[in-house]
Amino acid sequence: MDKVRLPLDILKNSVNVVFTGKEPWQIVSITTSSVLLIVWLYDFLDRDEDLLTRSKKTIFKIAKCFPQIKRKVDKELADINESFRKEVAEKTSHLEYLVQLPSKGMNSQEILKILNTNLALNQDLWKGGWASGAVYVHNESLQALMADAYKESSYTNPLHPDLFPGVCKMESEIIRILINLFYGDENACGTMTTGGTESIMMACKAYRDYAKETRGIRRPEMVLPITAHSGFDKAGLYLNIRLRHVRLDPATCQVDIKAMKKAINRNTIMLVGSAPNFPYGTIDDIAEISNLGLKYNIPVHVDSCLGGLLTCFMEKAGYPPPVTDFRLQGVTSISADTHKYGFAPKGTSVIMYKEPKYRHYQYTVTTDWVGGVYGSPTVNGSRAGGNVATCWAALLYHGIDGYVSATKEIIYTTKFIEKGLRRMKGIYIFGQPATSVVAVGSNDFDIYRLSDALLTLGWHLNTLQYPSAFHICVTLLHTKPGIAQKFLDDVRDSLVEILKDPSVPVAGKMALYGTAQKLPDRSIVGDITRYFLDSMYYIPEQQKK
Ligand SMILES: *Cc1c(COP(=O)(O)O)cnc(C)c1O
Ligand SMILES: *[C@@H]1O[C@H](CO)[C@@H](O)[C@H](O)[C@H]1NC(C)=O
Ligand SMILES: *[C@@H]1O[C@H](CO)[C@@H](O)[C@H](O)[C@H]1NC(C)=O
Ligand SMILES: *[C@@H]1O[C@H](CO)[C@@H](O)[C@H](O)[C@H]1NC(C)=O
Repeated sequence: MDKVRLPLDILKNSVNVVFTGKEPWQIVSITTSSVLLIVWLYDFLDRDEDLLTRSKKTIFKIAKCFPQIKRKVDKELADINESFRKEVAEKTSHLEYLVQLPSKGMNSQEILKILNTNLALNQDLWKGGWASGAVYVHNESLQALMADAYKESSYTNPLHPDLFPGVCKMESEIIRILINLFYGDENACGTMTTGGTESIMMACKAYRDYAKETRGIRRPEMVLPITAHSGFDKAGLYLNIRLRHVRLDPATCQVDIKAMKKAINRNTIMLVGSAPNFPYGTIDDIAEISNLGLKYNIPVHVDSCLGGLLTCFMEKAGYPPPVTDFRLQGVTSISADTHKYGFAPKGTSVIMYKEPKYRHYQYTVTTDWVGGVYGSPTVNGSRAGGNVATCWAALLYHGIDGYVSATKEIIYTTKFIEKGLRRMKGIYIFGQPATSVVAVGSNDFDIYRLSDALLTLGWHLNTLQYPSAFHICVTLLHTKPGIAQKFLDDVRDSLVEILKDPSVPVAGKMALYGTAQKLPDRSIVGDITRYFLDSMYYIPEQQKK
């Protein structure tokens, strides 16, 4: 008893000492302000961003209060802003913008004529296989089928299963086809979404709400590799989930499992692995992440948005990949994009769950709305039944044979490019490209010089940062004869030029990327990105009326 009482006595005595001789109003105000101070401190230390990031932001904000600095930053930003707009204006300078609704409806022929003039802008780029990713297939008979499938179903909306039960049937067939490809059992379930980002967002919502209800987690966090898609950042921002990014093992470019384990805490609602990731095309050690999930009883999401419809067929294509699907006990959900290597038109993806309980937390249900009880599975209310129909048709059109042969060609071409690049001096490949993405960096010169040289030759590749690099994402458009070889030849020729003097800094269009990466004030990079997004909606002033 004494041992227990002793610390209490000490506490009592010290409190009495502090308040000795104080009047009651003083005692009340000291107590109240101390409590408020503690609450404020707790809140200050426990925000979504860590202290360092917040301090940096404050310092840069203060710096921009100095007129000289502010003027310089504004001038640079205005120039960049202007250059984005100029680029758009140049591309469309020979075309007229339609900015008023025509007073009379136009006829179909006229509309299709203008539609095609608009679509013709830059079409040669992707059709010729000059672009990384972006368009995954170009086949006229498939395109015709897609048009017919959409035509037949364009009026449907899965929001109304009573009116369009056939669309719901096709949607559930698509989901089940994918579950079977990813080795889900009879309990597995899922929904379609409009794309990978939405699939990711839905999984995050499901796990956030599941953790809140079953474990009372009110400050949810997810643990994910730094290579996980930025869709998870978006989900974090939309859904108020904090992201704990985990570094990679530098040799393999897979997530460092030990670091991942350390990042798990009592607020962790989900673990993430990519199969494969977007930047380097490497597959994380999903088996180990699955084990972590089992050990700590935390759901594991596998992002197979990019390569899911390749990994499913790689074994049959003669390139067996590591197991990354529901055969791993700890994997509780998988996202896979049918609008990438499923070769369906843009607007479809599938999110799959190991068990129905997670899907229930994905749904949004409002029971008290004046408009009636309203339940919807994904972000949208109304959805395009046409998207369901085209995706369904694309899956049936290809069949296992079609996908296996496409996979064979794509993986073969990727390995051809990888092998060719590995033979060249001055550059290196990130980790072991697992499906269709090969990322290239350099220790000898600024790799953006190579991106810039390739851009000048017509190649539109994806730029990566931290460290500087670029990647090519191989699609069916690159598997046509001569294209991969042309790419390798262009890289080799550019390297010869660059290596004549490796120390030259990057110039041209890619210089902006180099600068942006080194800017410590990320808010400026944010502003630049916003201006770029603005430029997508830009209409030249003189054309606005
Ligand atoms: C493309 C991609 C996504 C997001 O898909 P969207 O359909 O573009 O929204 C998610 N993860 C990876 C790895 C991707 O490559
Ligand atoms: C960027 O351009 C837009 C016009 O498109 C303009 O309204 C805006 O003020 C510009 N911002 C800066 C910082 O120059
Ligand atoms: C389009 O796909 C069909 C069937 O898969 C194939 O026979 C045809 O050769 C393809 N056409 C082109 C241009 O690739
Ligand atoms: C539904 O939501 C997505 C965003 O997740 C959006 O891209 C899409 O256009 C929306 N509309 C329809 C009809 O699907």
